[in-house]
Amino acid sequence: MSSIKVKPIKDLWAEFEVPGDKSISHRAAILAGLSNGPCQIDNYLPSEDCICTLNAMSNLGVDYEVLEAMEGFGPTSLIIRGKKMDLSKPEEEVDCGNSGTGMRLLAGLLAAQPFESVLTGDASLCSRPMGRIMKPLAEMGASIEALGEKPGCAPLRITGGKLKEMTYEMPVASAQVKSAILLAGLFTEGKTTVVQPSETRDHTERMLAYFQVRSVRDGNHISVYGGQMPESRDFRIPGDISSAAFWIVAAACLPGAHLLIKNVGLNPTRTALLDVLIRMGAQIKDVVLSEEYGEPYGNIEITGKSLHGTEIKPEEVPNLIDEVPILAVAGALAQGKMSIRNAKELRVKESDRISTVADNLRAMGAEVEEYEDGMEISGGKPLHGQVLDSFGDHRIAMAFAIAGLHAKGETEITNTDCINTSYPGFSKHLEAIKAGKSPK
Ligand code: S3P
Repeated sequence: MSSIKVKPIKDLWAEFEVPGDKSISHRAAILAGLSNGPCQIDNYLPSEDCICTLNAMSNLGVDYEVLEAMEGFGPTSLIIRGKKMDLSKPEEEVDCGNSGTGMRLLAGLLAAQPFESVLTGDASLCSRPMGRIMKPLAEMGASIEALGEKPGCAPLRITGGKLKEMTYEMPVASAQVKSAILLAGLFTEGKTTVVQPSETRDHTERMLAYFQVRSVRDGNHISVYGGQMPESRDFRIPGDISSAAFWIVAAACLPGAHLLIKNVGLNPTRTALLDVLIRMGAQIKDVVLSEEYGEPYGNIEITGKSLHGTEIKPEEVPNLIDEVPILAVAGALAQGKMSIRNAKELRVKESDRISTVADNLRAMGAEVEEYEDGMEISGGKPLHGQVLDSFGDHRIAMAFAIAGLHAKGETEITNTDCINTSYPGFSKHLEAIKAGKSPK
C-alpha cells in the first residue's frame, strides 16, 4: 500500500495542465460508444474509474483503438467505434471499480437493453446508495434488484427492456441520477424530462447536444427525445477542474505564489470553487479560450494571498461538492470561520467526507464542528504534520497532501493508491511542486 510524504513549501511557482475531466470522460466513453460511427476522443482521463467505464462499454460490444496512453495507466487518446445504439449482452459482471458515476450512468444505459446484466464494484461503491437510480429506472419499466449486503446497494441485477418515457422530479440534486435517466430516455419513444431541485453539472446535456441529439433545457427541466442516435464526432476533453482544485488551493493560500493551470474545464456548473476562494480573498483570474467541443475551457491564474473564512451558500454546494475536502483545508488555513451546510450528500461519497475531513483536520490541530449536513471550521490555527489515513478516498488523500504543504513538520498520507481513480500522475506533479518546478 503506497503512501505520500510532504513537508512545508515556501514557494509555489508553476504552469501546467492537469489530466482530463473525469465526469466528461465517462460520458464520452458512453455516448461515443452509442454513436453511429468512429469518434476520436483526445485527453481521455486514464484513471481507474474511467478505464472501468471504457471496459464496461467494451464488454457491451464497443470496440476501441488506443492511439496514445499514459505510461503505467491507460489511454489518453483513442478511437471509439460507435455501436449504433445496439449493445450486446456482457459475458461477465460489469465492474465499475470505485466509480459512482460509472455505475449510475451505466445503470441508466443497461436499464434500456433487452438483456440481463449485473453491475458491481469495490467495497466502497457497494455501500453507496443506488435506490436513487433504481426508483426512476423502475418507473420507466426496468427491473433492478439490489444484491448488496446493505439494502439498496450494488451489485445490481438489471433486467432491461423497452422503457417508457417519463417526467421525474429528483429529490436530491444529482448529476449522476439526472444522467442515468437521460441515457435511459434515449431508448424510449417519447420525451423524458428530469426536474432537478437545483442546478447540477450539465455535461450530459452538453454532450448530447454536441453529439446532435435533440434535448431541451428549460431552467431546471431537462428533456431528451428518445429514438435518436448520437452522431459520431471527435471530442477533446478539457482538464479536470476538480483535480486542478488541489493546486489552486495550494497556491491561493500561499502569499506570493503564482500558478497558471492551462486548458482546464471552465463549465459554470463546476467553477463554484473559484467563487468561494475569491470571496475568501484569493486573487484568481479565469479566461475561457474555447468552447469548440460544447464545453468551455481555458486558463486559471492564481496569485497567493492570505485568506479569510466564508460561508458556502446552500445553492453553491452541488457545484463544488467534490471540492469540499480541499476547500475545508483552505478554511482551516484561512483566518476566521468557514461554514458548509446543506451538504449531506458528502456522507455518501467515496467516504463519509464530513467525518473523514473533520477527523483529519482535527488530527492536524484544526478546530472543526461537525453537523449532520456539513461542518464549521474555525481557521487560522497553525496545522501540524501528522500521519493521516486517506480512508480509501482519492479526494481525501490529495486534499491532505496539500494540507501537508502548509503544515509544520512532516505529513504522511497512507493508503494513497486510491488517487489513481481520478488523478493518475498526482504524485509526480506533487514531486515537481515540492522541488519548485512546473509539473510536465
Ligand atoms: C458526478 C456528479 C457528482 C460528483 C461526482 C461526479 C458526475 O455527483 O460528486 O464526483 O459525473 O455526474 P452527484 O450525482 O451527487 O451530482
